Amino acid sequence: MIKLLIIILIISNIILLYLPNRKKIKKLFYKSEINEVDIYQLHEIFKTEKISSNLWGPKKETIIKSFCISPNNLITGMTSNYEAWVLTSLSKISKNIFEFGTCSGKTTYLFALNSPENSKIISITLKPEQINKIIKKKGDNKISFRNIFNETIYEKFLFSGSNVENKIKVIFQNSMEFDEKQYPNHFDLIFIDGGHTYSVVKNDSEKSFRMLNSNGIIFWHDYVPGKKSAKDVVKYINEISKNKKIFHLKNTSLCFYKNNI
Ligand SMILES: C[S@@+](CC[C@H](N)C(=O)[O-])C[C@H]1O[C@@H](n2cnc3c(N)ncnc32)[C@H](O)[C@@H]1O
Repeated sequence: MIKLLIIILIISNIILLYLPNRKKIKKLFYKSEINEVDIYQLHEIFKTEKISSNLWGPKKETIIKSFCISPNNLITGMTSNYEAWVLTSLSKISKNIFEFGTCSGKTTYLFALNSPENSKIISITLKPEQINKIIKKKGDNKISFRNIFNETIYEKFLFSGSNVENKIKVIFQNSMEFDEKQYPNHFDLIFIDGGHTYSVVKNDSEKSFRMLNSNGIIFWHDYVPGKKSAKDVVKYINEISKNKKIFHLKNTSLCFYKNNI
């Protein structure tokens, strides 16, 4: 009886220790295969400026117009505020921007608020009535496929009715059918955050490489080794990193590729 009680006590202690620390524990087992870099290695605008001997602050190039979404406002599929700030800072120096996956339009709105006045932002996404035509391909992860359904719920966006909406063109189309040949070497900034299944990530990435201009940069969202819904994103990026210089940005789930490195 005492033995049984001790065993139960040990198991419950392990569970109690595991639950609040599961992200850290998972990190020990699932290592990133991609070279991790600090933010100042992404672009010189992220180098901090000395204010005093113990205080370094952001350059003015990275001061952005932003907003926060309250945790009570249950919006699905968003970037973290840090990730959004990184992408948005780069949008300030980007004339042509493309996004795979609009969802609520959080990132699209930030791009429009901060990019130069004559910038154009194209975001491709699905609306609820198109979801039944989406097919799971062989090798696609089940959870990622299910998430496409969970995230395809909007057809109006956070930027709808705003004074920057005219900078944005939303294309309601399956990205698998999108013809990227109309935009050869065109975009300065591409954000891949659409369907997270292997077939869709591969499709969106291959099209992005063709649409990126010579100084352009591609970002992928959700590079999280060990996270079930990100399994295909991680698998695809690990695979292509053998032939392409892809970097993982520290403290984010963002990976990036730059044409001019
Ligand atoms: C993770 S959310 C995007 C979040 C958004 N980028 C943001 O930062 O707020 C994924 C979006 O991708 C769209 N999507 C999924 N599969 C797609 C496909 N095959 N073609 C186009 N859009 C797709 C979904 O409808 C959803 O709007």
